[in-house]
Amino acid sequence: MLTGKKIVLGITGSIAAYKAAVLCRALIKRGAEVQVVITPAGKEFITPVTLSALTQKPVVSAFFTANDGTWNSHVDLGLWADLMLIAPATAATIGKIANGVADNMLVTTYLSMKAPVFVAPAMDLDMYAHPATQRNLERLKSYGNHIIEPGTGLLASNLDGKGRMEEPDRIVNRIERFFEKEKELAGNKVLITAGPTQEKIDPVRYISNYSSGKMGFALAEECAGRGAEVFLVSGPVERTTVHPRIKRIDVETAEEMYQAAASHFPEATIAILCAAVADYRPAQYSKNKLKRQAAPALSLELTPNPDIAAALGEAKKNGQLLMGFALETENELSNAQAKLRKKNLDFIVLNSLQDRGAGFRGDTNKVTVMDAEGNASPFPLKSKSEVAADLVDLLVNKKRTTE
Ligand code: CTP
Repeated sequence: MLTGKKIVLGITGSIAAYKAAVLCRALIKRGAEVQVVITPAGKEFITPVTLSALTQKPVVSAFFTANDGTWNSHVDLGLWADLMLIAPATAATIGKIANGVADNMLVTTYLSMKAPVFVAPAMDLDMYAHPATQRNLERLKSYGNHIIEPGTGLLASNLDGKGRMEEPDRIVNRIERFFEKEKELAGNKVLITAGPTQEKIDPVRYISNYSSGKMGFALAEECAGRGAEVFLVSGPVERTTVHPRIKRIDVETAEEMYQAAASHFPEATIAILCAAVADYRPAQYSKNKLKRQAAPALSLELTPNPDIAAALGEAKKNGQLLMGFALETENELSNAQAKLRKKNLDFIVLNSLQDRGAGFRGDTNKVTVMDAEGNASPFPLKSKSEVAADLVDLLVNKKRTTE
């Protein structure tokens, strides 16, 4: 249900605007309060009278109301809403909001919006597939906006392809699910380590590994989307975070990662140790660049780094859940199970380098999750964000059954 949720419904100039009335009705039926903001082109497709009758509120379209000069405050709408939904969203409006072209009330409302934004594109298949539209949608995703993918089928142009606005009922279900998910980890603080560490040899060289941070960053977005406050302790990676509830702490070395993780662990209810921590660092750091010498070989002496997972496992108290990862190349299940026990983890996520599409760098992963009770659940090959959702589901269920 959407009881008490305040939703700004943005409508733009697409033939799919006729479905906006059904969408409006469905939102209201499930308990939402809806304020419509419509573009001038949107009014060519659906009349404001229909929408104001449904919402029992004047429809906002211009900066000023023509008859009495009342100013319509987009800033107030941005603060009022629990969510903004732009449906249908034309290529033009997607381009404007992606690039901040604030030439109508809907775009200024979008730019002032404090609440999450959902965008449901509707356009012809070629317009949708055009790199300009795709780039603008990617940009919206990078702002944290949620894109409700259009469906495939017969379009107003009589062509068949991808571009039909998603059906109103499915849009409303998606929004309901969004609000439900936000409750699942509300009030929890989640600590996540991600990426590689770099262990300095001299001012120009380091020891590291291939970790890209993709899995850890996907987990951070997923946990934040479930309502948690996330501390993401990350080694050096070229990645950005999107969700405002993620607090990123950048580190370079295993020692720095350990310090940051240990200081946030006491307040965390969940810790996910996804980083590929270097097990060793050079025993000596050379302040000056090591010079090539006449010697035929160079030996580096290495000294062990702290084991962050093991340290947190030792400090773990009732009510705290620990999930670790294991990247194995042989005897995968037994090695992973042994790590789970040794580090006092509740779950261990096994990546096998024998599996295609699993592990470092790629956008996919194939995992088997083991728990402390000895159960092993294999998952199929999925995108890293889908794997993140599966892993967080396990943590949420575990919390539910132990609380
Ligand atoms: N881990 C950690 N700190 C370390 C090493 C590992 O927190 N210094 C964590 C990883 O983030 C992962 C788990 O421990 O969640 C297992 O990491 P892995 O590298 O597979 O295990 P190791 O303990 O390093 O064992 P080995 O290298 O011998 O396989």
